[in-house]
Parts: sequence; C-alpha cells; structure tokens
Amino acid sequence: MVHHSTPEVPVRADPAQLDQVVMNLVTNAKHASLPSGTISVHTDLIPIGMARPCPCQVRRHPGPLGLLMVEDDGTGMEPEVAARIFEPFFSTRDSTTGTGLGLATVSDIVERSGGHVCVTSAVGKGAVFRVFLPADL
Ligand SMILES: Nc1ncnc2c1ncn2[C@@H]1O[C@H](COP(=O)(O)OP(=O)(O)OP(=O)(O)O)[C@@H](O)[C@H]1O
Ligand SMILES: [Mg+2]
Repeated sequence: MVHHSTPEVPVRADPAQLDQVVMNLVTNAKHASLPSGTISVHTDLIPIGMARPCPCQVRRHPGPLGLLMVEDDGTGMEPEVAARIFEPFFSTRDSTTGTGLGLATVSDIVERSGGHVCVTSAVGKGAVFRVFLPADL
C-alpha cells in the first residue's frame, strides 16, 4: 500500500461513516489486487470552478469539494459490472465472502453527506474510486 502525503481537507461528514467509506474502498481494492499489487490513497481540495479530475459530470454541490481517491492496479471491471456496483447485494465475489453491500453503503453515506462517488475502470487496468464531499472551509 502506498500512502502519499496529501492535503488535509475538512469535510462535512460523520467521521465513523468516513472510516467505513475508506475501509470498504480499500478492502475492495485489496481483493481486486490479490495476490499482490499497489493501492494508493490520496486526498485533494477541488476549489470552486476547478474542473474535477474525473469523467463524471455530476455536480451536486456548488462549493469547493474534498476529494478522496482510492486507486488500485488490480483486475479492473467490465463496463457491465461497473454499471451495477452500487446496487445493494451486487457482488462478483463468492457468496460466502461478499455480501455486495460495501459500495451500496459507500454511496449511501456519501450521497447523504451531499457528495457523490465516481468510478473509472477497465479490465486489466485497475480501478479508481473518487469520493467528492462538500469541503467545510
Ligand atoms: N477496486 C475494484 N476493482 C474491481 N472490481 C471492484 C472493485 N471494487 C468493487 N468491485 C466490484 O464491485 C462489486 C461490488 O462491491 P461491494 O463492495 O459492493 O461488494 P463486495 O466487495 O462484493 O462484498 P462486500 O463489500 O459486501 O463484502 C464487487 O463484487 C466487484 O465485482
Ligand atoms: Mg466490498
């Protein structure tokens, strides 16, 4: 796991819920990268008016945003899988190990906090999850 040094950005969200978000994203990245790979976690501040570093056009919040990015170089996903990952109980893992609730929980927490999650991935190219939350500056 690579842990870059990244800026601290205050956001309006429950700390225990944010722990859950990070844990779920990093655990998924680990499963996609087994037996070995590189996972990187970093944060950033996206000021008002700055183009966000993702293809997703969603902008639910007009102000500055805190970005949490979890990136892996694991298996990646087919577009058909990527389209369904936020559905409750959707899992490509063995039913004894994955409940498919991890990312449903992540998107629920993030959206209730006024933010959104964006994912980019391709088979064999890993995955990048970006969580945007309203910054509390
Ligand atoms: N980093 C990733 N790389 C590749 N596929 C991923 C990644 N993260 C999630 N996925 C895909 O999204 C699916 C849903 O993820 P989610 O976290 O919701 O459930 P799960 O990990 O299968 O089970 P749970 O988190 O409930 O233990 C996974 O089964 C997997 O197919
Ligand atoms: Mg999971």
